Amino acid sequence: MVQHWWQEIVVYQIYPRSFNDSNGDGIGDLQGIIEKLDYLKELGIGAIWLSPVYQSPNDDNGYDISNYEAIMDEFGSMDDMEELLAQANQRGIKIIMDLVVNHTSDEHAWFIEARKDKNSPYRDYYIWANPAADGTTPNDLTSFFSGSAWKFDEETGQYYLHFFSKKQPDLNWENEKVREEVYNMMNFWIDKGIGGFRMDVIDLIGKVPQEKISTNGPKLHDYLQEMNQKTFGEHDLLTVGETMAATPENAKLYSKPERKELSMVFQFQHMNLDIQANGEKWDLAPLDVAKLKEVLAKWQKELGDEGWNSLYWNNHDQPRIVSRWGDDDQYRVQSAKMLAILLHMMKGTPYIYQGEEIGMTNTPISDISEAADIESINMYHERLAKGYDKKDILASINAKGRDNARRPMAWDSSTNAGFTSGKPWLALNDNYKDINVELALKGPNSIFYTYQKLIQLRKENPIMIWGSFQLVDTVDEVFSYYRKYKGQRWLVVTNFSSEVQPFSSEDEMKKVIIQNTVDEFTTLENINLQPWQAFVVEVE
Ligand code: NOJ
Repeated sequence: MVQHWWQEIVVYQIYPRSFNDSNGDGIGDLQGIIEKLDYLKELGIGAIWLSPVYQSPNDDNGYDISNYEAIMDEFGSMDDMEELLAQANQRGIKIIMDLVVNHTSDEHAWFIEARKDKNSPYRDYYIWANPAADGTTPNDLTSFFSGSAWKFDEETGQYYLHFFSKKQPDLNWENEKVREEVYNMMNFWIDKGIGGFRMDVIDLIGKVPQEKISTNGPKLHDYLQEMNQKTFGEHDLLTVGETMAATPENAKLYSKPERKELSMVFQFQHMNLDIQANGEKWDLAPLDVAKLKEVLAKWQKELGDEGWNSLYWNNHDQPRIVSRWGDDDQYRVQSAKMLAILLHMMKGTPYIYQGEEIGMTNTPISDISEAADIESINMYHERLAKGYDKKDILASINAKGRDNARRPMAWDSSTNAGFTSGKPWLALNDNYKDINVELALKGPNSIFYTYQKLIQLRKENPIMIWGSFQLVDTVDEVFSYYRKYKGQRWLVVTNFSSEVQPFSSEDEMKKVIIQNTVDEFTTLENINLQPWQAFVVEVE
């Protein structure tokens, strides 16, 4: 099997708006990222996934793009972007651009033209439908941001489709011209020297709205193969598709090398384990660790030698992992390190989301006026109208809302955590005086150094990248597995709970590779794992 650079590295996601503000306007920017490249080099990452930096009216913080070949004013200019690429490349860090091509902004020139006139050459760039016989929406497809997925457009008397906000009309991928425009735009960025693309909701592009097919449409894989051929196929780029409906079975379609589609996908099955059976992200349920093991082990096994996994706990759409599945109170440090070890030791490319490496936590709100995210705000009003209790809605937002991950990065203990000298666009988490990068770098036992060590270990030990995966049978709350490679064996043992848990293995220990406690131990037989304890040992 051909080996690729994107299998060997660790990726770091930056949400530019909240990373670092260089000019005091309260909004992070490209120069702010450049200022922090040395910090990222010290962490050891090999690529940055940059959430969208293109021109946008910011209805969905940049995921609504009005010009794919221009930079958002608040973030800087194309010169800044080129400087970022050059400075990152100099440090051995590639830049992965966010490719948002399921939809554009309604302020994109194509949509402005399309909505003017049914005969516009741009009309067919989007998806239009006549009202149903009774004058209502063409069908009952719903938006991921609440309400109908159809919006009536007065001017021409038709509805257009928007799977996200009304200001994010869906592109019509059936139209060859749309596909060509997208490929040209991708080549524009490839020519600038980027390292790849993260593809936003890419499993929606094959949709057939009239048949109410959204994800996994019949032409999805044809489009991806065409895209591969016309753009990145000849370059060794990292391509990762955001695929909310991927299963271990169909994920091979995307990432099996001979199919020439993508490097890997972001699957959602593990992220969907702490919700109720109705699949509604806001209806919470406690995490069942046994289920988590089952799901992750299945992905490890299925993609084994045939495809490639991405590994993640966090991104800009998910709550902070230490608050979600760790313990962000008494065992914050211990559980954050455990989660890091568990994830980075699996087979696949790990992704770290800004602030995860210092154990940043969720930021609860007590009133909807404190929320900025369109998804939470729309859901709040929809549920209120349906008669839900305000307290319950806020509890859902506090557990799952996207603002949790989008609070500004905490760099130090000074005003606004060193994120900005102005007024931050979104309030910081109050705990920034205790949880910030400056303190993390000063504390030799900080979460940061666990991440740094994991990344360094990956550079030195091919077993971490290429070794096979095998789950170990344990009590539910213990997650343990082997990695095996060319006669070498590593045993990973983690306690996914705040209680002491039993573990026993007859394996003979050779040496400890990494751990999150200072315990000295010489045997693996009948041990009591401390709350959130994690270790990796090489065994005979
Ligand atoms: C997925 C992105 O990650 C999310 O932030 C965005 O709101 C939707 N796609 C729409 O682009």
